[in-house]
Amino acid sequence: MKIFLAADHGGFELKEYLIEKLKKQKYQIEDYGAFKYNPRDDYPDIVKDAIIKVAKDKNARGILCCCSGIGVSIMANRHPKIRAAVAFNKKIAKETRQKNNINILCLGADYLSQKQALEIVKTFLSNKFLGGRHERRLDKINQYHSKNRGNIPKIKNSDLRLKAKRIILRPLKNSDAKDIYLNIQDKRISESTLKIPWPYKIEDAQIFIQKTKKSLQKKSEFVFGIELKNRKEVIGCIGLDKVNFEHKNAELGYWLGSKYWSQGIVTKAGKLILKFGFEKLKLHRIWCCIFSDNPASKKVVEKLGFKREGLHRETSWREGRWRDNVRYGILDREFERS
Ligand SMILES: CC(C)(COP(=O)(O)OP(=O)(O)OC[C@H]1O[C@@H](n2cnc3c(N)ncnc32)[C@H](O)[C@@H]1OP(=O)(O)O)[C@@H](O)C(=O)NCCC(=O)NCCS
Repeated sequence: MKIFLAADHGGFELKEYLIEKLKKQKYQIEDYGAFKYNPRDDYPDIVKDAIIKVAKDKNARGILCCCSGIGVSIMANRHPKIRAAVAFNKKIAKETRQKNNINILCLGADYLSQKQALEIVKTFLSNKFLGGRHERRLDKINQYHSKNRGNIPKIKNSDLRLKAKRIILRPLKNSDAKDIYLNIQDKRISESTLKIPWPYKIEDAQIFIQKTKKSLQKKSEFVFGIELKNRKEVIGCIGLDKVNFEHKNAELGYWLGSKYWSQGIVTKAGKLILKFGFEKLKLHRIWCCIFSDNPASKKVVEKLGFKREGLHRETSWREGRWRDNVRYGILDREFERS
C-alpha cells in the first residue's frame, strides 16, 4: 500500500516526524512536501498533488497535516474519489476508516502530540472498510453528487419483473450462477460480445451476478436474466448498461444460450426491455453496438425497430483482431409499443 503525505507550514514538523516513523516500519512512503518550513505557504498548493495521487490508486492512502486538519480535509473532499476525515483520537480514526472508508486521514498538528498522531495513523492504516450498509450510504453520496445522473425515476421491485408469453425477465439471483455457466458454454457467445470471457468459469458467473446486483442498486445498469416460464431456468441475459439519466440514454446488450437461438426469444426480451427503458426509466434513446460480422444480432435490433447509425471501424481488439462495430439506435418516439 502506498502512502502519500503532505503538509503545509502548520503540519510540517508533524509530517516529518510521521515519515521518519513510518519508514522505519517499512511502509511505502511518498513525501509530497512541503520540503522545507515556510510560514507563508498555502495548504491547497501543497496538498493538491498528494490528493490526486490517492484518487488515482484505489489501494493508496493519504495523510495530510495542517494546524487543525480541517483546511486540508475540505480541500481533499472536493475530489469525487476522496473520502477524507479529521481524526483526533484512535477511536474516531477506526470508526471513520471502517464506516466511511476514508482514503485520506487529516491531522491537526496544533491539537495532537506527535505520539498521539502516530497512534491515529497506525489505526487508520490497519483498519478495513466494513462495506454492507456503509457501502450503500457511500454509493448514495456519489449518486447525489454526480453531475451525470439527472432525475432518477423511482423503480419499484415489481417494475423489475417483465413478462411475455414464454419468458420472464427478472434481476439475477446468486442461485442463477449454474444456469448462466451452463448456457454460456459456447465460444461464439464470447466471440460476439466485448466482455464475456473464454473459457467461462462458474466464478465468472458468480462475479457477474454480484456486479449486476450492485449496479442495479446504483441504478447504473439494469441487467435481467431471461427465464423460460415453463422451466424456471435462466437461459441468457439482457440489460441496459451505461444508463445516463441526464441525457436519458442507455446501451442495450444481450446473449442467449445457443440451444435456444433463432426462436425469437431475444427479440421478445428486447421488446420488454425497450418498453421498460422508455416507460419506467423514461429514456429518450437506446443504442446498441454490434460487431459487423454478427448477422443474428443485427437482425434482432432491426426487428425491434432500431436504425443503423453508422459503422465504427476497428473499435475493439477481440479474438486477436480488430473488429468493426455497427452502431444502432432507437428513440422513444420510434418504438412501437404494440
Ligand atoms: C444474437 C442473439 C442474442 C440472438 O438471439 P435469438 O433469440 O436467437 O434471436 P431471435 O431468434 O430473436 O432473432 C435472430 C434472427 O437472426 C436470424 N439469424 C440467426 N443467425 C443468422 C445468420 N447467421 N445470418 C442471418 N440471420 C441469422 C434468425 O433467423 C432470426 O431472424 P428471424 O426471426 O427473421 O428468423 C444470439 O444469437 C446470441 O446470444 N449470440 C451470441 C451473443 C451475441 O451476439 N450477443 C449480442 C452482442 S451485440
